[in-house]
Amino acid sequence: MDFPKQGMSKDEVLSTLKGRQRGDADWRHGRTFSLVYYAGPEALDVLYEASRAYFSENALNPMAFPGLRQCETDVVSLTAAMLHHPDAAGTMTTGGTESILMAVKTAREWARATKPHITHPEMIVPITVHPAFEKAAAYFDVKSVHIPVGDDFRADIHAARSLINENTILVVGSSPQYPHGVVDPITELAALAQEHGILCHVDACLGGFLLPWLEKLGYPVPPFDFRVPGVTSMSADVHKYGYAAKGASVVLYRERELRKYQFVAYADWPGGLYGSPSMCGTRAGGPIAAAWAIMHHLGEAGYLRVTGESMTTARRLMDGINAIPGLYVFGDPVGSVFGFGARDIDIFALSEAMDARGWHLDRLQRPAGLHMMITPAHAPLVEKILSDLREATEQIRRDGTLAEGAAAMYGALGTMDDRGTVSEFILNFLDNIDAR
Ligand SMILES: Cc1ncc(COP(=O)(O)O)c(C=O)c1O
Repeated sequence: MDFPKQGMSKDEVLSTLKGRQRGDADWRHGRTFSLVYYAGPEALDVLYEASRAYFSENALNPMAFPGLRQCETDVVSLTAAMLHHPDAAGTMTTGGTESILMAVKTAREWARATKPHITHPEMIVPITVHPAFEKAAAYFDVKSVHIPVGDDFRADIHAARSLINENTILVVGSSPQYPHGVVDPITELAALAQEHGILCHVDACLGGFLLPWLEKLGYPVPPFDFRVPGVTSMSADVHKYGYAAKGASVVLYRERELRKYQFVAYADWPGGLYGSPSMCGTRAGGPIAAAWAIMHHLGEAGYLRVTGESMTTARRLMDGINAIPGLYVFGDPVGSVFGFGARDIDIFALSEAMDARGWHLDRLQRPAGLHMMITPAHAPLVEKILSDLREATEQIRRDGTLAEGAAAMYGALGTMDDRGTVSEFILNFLDNIDAR
């Protein structure tokens, strides 16, 4: 492809982009079950306008744009209060992955400073924890040791205890985890960390802006946040159930002194004194302003409304799925995120049949399943989703249909014992994505 010699007009540029969107998933009408969290047209407009207002500003230098700095400070302190520790210190990051990377980097620096005898640090993480912890392990050279989960998909606390050794610096649990939407035994995991004098991170990327509101609405929610003694840090994504624009998460530390280990300072650069709180150098102003804007636009009343709507919708879907012969919801999900499997049909054939009907359900493995994250955009679609699922399930059972093509490959990769070969396959897929 050649670099354009002459620039295109604004109209041409925008119409080309619009054209490219034609084949994309229709998130506005509830056709996706992850990737986009949509709280309606007015909320979207607030995000657009707030992003626009701070579109060009850069949070790299906190002195240049005090207005933007105030937005970040407000987002962090509101999130800390929501997670029941108003004194927590934190920073905004670009997303859950960056928040997790920062929590692991902080744990490593903390251990280097306070436990210098540890030269090969380890963290124990449930097998269901988000892969961002594997990324952190690779980036920061902290070994990840996997805690198995029980039949309820929650971390097995007895196994966790047996995996701790003299190199362990961090214990991790999720509130809730992505695949099945269940909350790990946070109280027990944090107590274990406390007992060993090490740190405990709770990944509430998914639930940070969901569980506090569910609790207020009266739904049963297990202990999940800073109220649990021994929880030393948390991650919570404003760009998930906080309904912010993408590029907004918060990482929080119970003690301010801990946060310092996250930062990087370099005093000798000829370009000037350099300090950076997180992974990025330049930090876009738009997502910070949009996060501030949506939190103030929705407020507690707005979050309770959208959370209530998502939860009622998710419960209707879960009940409906459990009522379809052969399908069942995994475990006991705490909120509006859940997975489901099939007893006597090929679940990936079902995912293909749903794709053909225009629904984009994410796929799970070990056990094989499909995944839903519910937002208010799905409220009007419950009957249609369930009737399509029912019809597709019956058809697959009647015809004995098995998954084909990509879905079949996904199923096969999920059950292969040689995980190294599967990882190689994934790397090749990424490597070839620009050749498609
Ligand atoms: C539980 C959990 N943690 C972390 C993440 C990572 O978030 P992000 O995709 O914003 O990096 C996700 C993403 O779905 C998640 O579900």
